[in-house]
Amino acid sequence: MTEKATELVGVQAAEFNLKNYDEAYANFDWKEAETYFSWHKTGQVNAAYEAIDRHVDEGRGEQVALRYSDATREESYTFAQLKALSNKFGNVLRQYGVKKGDRVFIFMPRSPELYAAFLGAVKIGAIVGPLFEAFMEGAVRDRLEDSGAVAIVTTPKLKERVPAGDLPELKHVFLVGAEGELSDKEIDFDKEMAAASDALDIEWVDREDGLVLHYTSGSTGKPKGVLHVHNAMIQHYMTALWILDLRAGDIFWCTADPGWVTGTAYGIWGPWLHGATSVIRGGRFTPDDWYATLEKFKVTVWYSAPTAFRMLMGAGDDLVKKYDISSVRHILSVGEPLNAEVVRWGLKVYGQRIHDNWWMTETGGQMISNYPSMPIKPGSMGKPFPGIYAAIVDNEGNEVPPNTMGNLAIRAPWPSMMRKIWNNPAKFEEYFGLKPWYISGDSAYKDEDGYFWFQGRIDDVINTSGERVGPFEVESKLVEHPAVAEAGVIGKPDPLRGEIIKAFVALREGYQPSDELIEEIRDFVKKGLAAHAAPREIEFRDKLPKTRSGKIMRRVLKSWELGLPTGDLSTMED
Ligand code: WTA
Repeated sequence: MTEKATELVGVQAAEFNLKNYDEAYANFDWKEAETYFSWHKTGQVNAAYEAIDRHVDEGRGEQVALRYSDATREESYTFAQLKALSNKFGNVLRQYGVKKGDRVFIFMPRSPELYAAFLGAVKIGAIVGPLFEAFMEGAVRDRLEDSGAVAIVTTPKLKERVPAGDLPELKHVFLVGAEGELSDKEIDFDKEMAAASDALDIEWVDREDGLVLHYTSGSTGKPKGVLHVHNAMIQHYMTALWILDLRAGDIFWCTADPGWVTGTAYGIWGPWLHGATSVIRGGRFTPDDWYATLEKFKVTVWYSAPTAFRMLMGAGDDLVKKYDISSVRHILSVGEPLNAEVVRWGLKVYGQRIHDNWWMTETGGQMISNYPSMPIKPGSMGKPFPGIYAAIVDNEGNEVPPNTMGNLAIRAPWPSMMRKIWNNPAKFEEYFGLKPWYISGDSAYKDEDGYFWFQGRIDDVINTSGERVGPFEVESKLVEHPAVAEAGVIGKPDPLRGEIIKAFVALREGYQPSDELIEEIRDFVKKGLAAHAAPREIEFRDKLPKTRSGKIMRRVLKSWELGLPTGDLSTMED
């Protein structure tokens, strides 16, 4: 257990929507939240309607929905304009025979076209599979194949990593910024958009129909497709209200890419369900760029990640003084443990608290959080959202006493809970084996005041800079390299990135360890999987520890790395 924090950081000096956490927790019922949606009256459900068109129908069409900028573009879009653009893409998809329930993937850098395509696909009832732009061919292929995607929206540069010829179910490759000759399956996105009508009959769906499919990593097997449904909007709306503290007129910046769940739940749904302006900054970030973006767009609410805050802390206390970020009234963090030290630094340098919150791809929305109206214990993830029952349970599902470490569990169901793992019902059931709990795979404890403290992962999933990486995927890629006989991959603690990926590798006969070989192997993973999945460290060993059935014992690798006792080795081969 970590050191006990005795300090409490007081209530944020801002107006807030959730005035009294305890009272809300005691009285809140999700049924109440349903009444905030237009489908409560009309019976017609579509998350994209609620997030975009509804504002137009209710007279807010001229408000700015999206402020996009990168090194070469700077554009603003009102809700009316986003409605028109997404309608156009909905029509384009229908023209090509794409229909409700079909999987439509989006594989491109953040841009206005990405958001228009995303919303357009949702409007016709398709399920969107967003792919992070850093994925290489192997990773793209796995996801398209598993989901049976019928269409993908991408760019001329990224299409090189889309093996359309090998994927019979993939019928259409929409190219944003297409140039020159188009080959089989390729369609000029811009040309189709220009010609399409901006009036669309939205596909009304069931609340339980598929909305978005996010692939994420576990410790075994290939990445799994986590399916979320339209009903998740209830939780996106409420958490954006009480955790992000959003309201119309806010200028909200979520720094996550829509390839990850934070970038859809809170880069799209959270702000737009509230009619707030979403700031999207394309390209890579530097500390200067972060502050310049806050200043330029007069951001009021800022949602980022611990690695980002640690980078900003590393850039020094004075950098922020070059910028006017006085518009910012609320700061939040997610994705990995937020060190108490960073919270204290934020108080000193920004004069504000950084509000940590916890959730996962599988939970679909925020679950545990620090609220503006609640005192913070630096280093704690906070308390469960009203309507969510979180607990620490042992391996039999019994709740354990305060300050005892155990499995972080949530009583199922909740509105944004995943509804299936694509093609893998057994995997889905694994999460819910200890009824009535959803077992998160994280370990934590709850203190006597009800605050939750993250302790680590129970499995071997790696969290590097807030990105979830499965060791199995990296190991599988490593052993494809001709020099690699065996590979075991672990997360190694790192002060900036939380963890880095470290690979232990046994070479095949005839290969000698060298710095060049390390570079070559790292590059091989980078090109085959993704840059963020490539091991930063590679260490050669003659043999790797394995069980008698031949499984690499990552636990032993980890204790080698940390210089800890290796524990029970009774299952290890000689
Ligand atoms: C970790 C991201 C500590 C955790 C939204 C979880 C955290 C995994 C926190 C999910 C936090 C997320 N403190 N750890 N506040 N938030 N995590 O699916 O291990 O990309 O299981 O979802 O990130 O990562 P995912």
